[in-house]
Amino acid sequence: MIKVGVVGCGTMGSGIAQVAATAGHHVLVYDKNSEQAYKAGEKLKSIMDRLVEKGKKTQEEADAIVSRVKFIDNLASFDECGLVIEAIVENIDIKHIIFKELEDVVPEDCILATNTSSLSVASIGSVLEHPERMVGLHFFNPAPLMPLVEVVPAVQTKAGLAEECKKLMESWGKAPAIVKDTPGFIVNRVARPFYGEALRIYEEGWADFATIDWAMTELGGFKMGPFTLMDYIGNDVNYVVTETVFASFYYDQRYKPSFTQKRHSEAGYLGRKSCRGYYDYSEGAVQPQPNKDEVLGKKIMDRILCMLINEAVDAVFWNIASIEDVDLAMTKGVNYPKGLLKWADEIGLEKVLANLEDLQDKFGEDRYRPSYLMKQMVKEGKTFY
Ligand SMILES: NC(=O)c1ccc[n+]([C@@H]2O[C@H](COP(=O)([O-])OP(=O)(O)OC[C@H]3O[C@@H](n4cnc5c(N)ncnc54)[C@H](O)[C@@H]3O)[C@@H](O)[C@H]2O)c1
Repeated sequence: MIKVGVVGCGTMGSGIAQVAATAGHHVLVYDKNSEQAYKAGEKLKSIMDRLVEKGKKTQEEADAIVSRVKFIDNLASFDECGLVIEAIVENIDIKHIIFKELEDVVPEDCILATNTSSLSVASIGSVLEHPERMVGLHFFNPAPLMPLVEVVPAVQTKAGLAEECKKLMESWGKAPAIVKDTPGFIVNRVARPFYGEALRIYEEGWADFATIDWAMTELGGFKMGPFTLMDYIGNDVNYVVTETVFASFYYDQRYKPSFTQKRHSEAGYLGRKSCRGYYDYSEGAVQPQPNKDEVLGKKIMDRILCMLINEAVDAVFWNIASIEDVDLAMTKGVNYPKGLLKWADEIGLEKVLANLEDLQDKFGEDRYRPSYLMKQMVKEGKTFY
């Protein structure tokens, strides 16, 4: 079994190290901040204690996992690693420095992976002498619990490496989806309308936050409504992802950020972490009640869902990922109740298309343009499955 190296043990790196050790690998973890490394070690022990208490692991299994993870204070010991996953700060210059240092120490056949969410894998790998060994392995937070891993081959990645990584991730009990090195990969691209269209519906005055959340959870079956979820993620973080995706797509109107979210973020209404977001989380705060008008709720839900389906269809049209992987990503990475393309088949693609054309007609905006693939499939009477 290959030795796995993890660089950076913050939120993601510590979770990835736990996953690799649980799969049986010896894991070396390096963080430039020794206090962070100490904290990650303590956190791993307490997670294992909890798993033992809950009966999910035996004491022996937990001890073995902890003993397989070694925190080290320099990269030199990475010389025996077969895979190194980088999970440091999202900054291209800092990532470049680390990858150059890594290439000097790791064996020639070592796979170098990045957990980046928003940078291109091609740009990170560009500093390597052998960029063909570079790949994206994008885990979701919390890594031990979320099954999805987006496997991202860059233009430089050698043929077959993505499939090899996919198999490895499967052996770790993960649900890997192979995706092209494009902004937002699958999840952060396809999910944009869940937030953006909900904000837009609010801005148009159709409904308030509570009503839109109610429509999406009660009528749509989503685990959290968009505003509750944005408050959970943090409005600052979620806004920056939207802004980054918008800029990366050369300002395609489909991904246009919202002033409502920007103002909430600027005001410090970041969500749960600041006790105030779209909702008030202070003790004793009275939560607004939704308007449970089923007709309005269905209109809201249909509009957001059609926009999500359009993104999913367009991702397939541009060969970003396969039909199965797009559905897998949204169910295993962000817990959608159903794959969007399966959902499209159930609703009937012609109904989704009619809804989008109606919105496009009404607003005259490019934001609502249906994917070419959707139009073509309706013309030919095709379904995804
Ligand atoms: N947080 C998420 O939800 C999430 C989800 C998927 C992917 N990601 C991506 O994962 C990466 C890490 O994100 P995070 O949320 O874990 O960040 P984090 O801030 O929690 O942790 C980053 C860690 O990297 C360490 N670090 C920084 N520079 C370093 C260097 N030069 N050498 C060694 N260690 C260094 C820091 O000390 C810190 O412990 C980013 O690329 C991010 O885009 C984050």
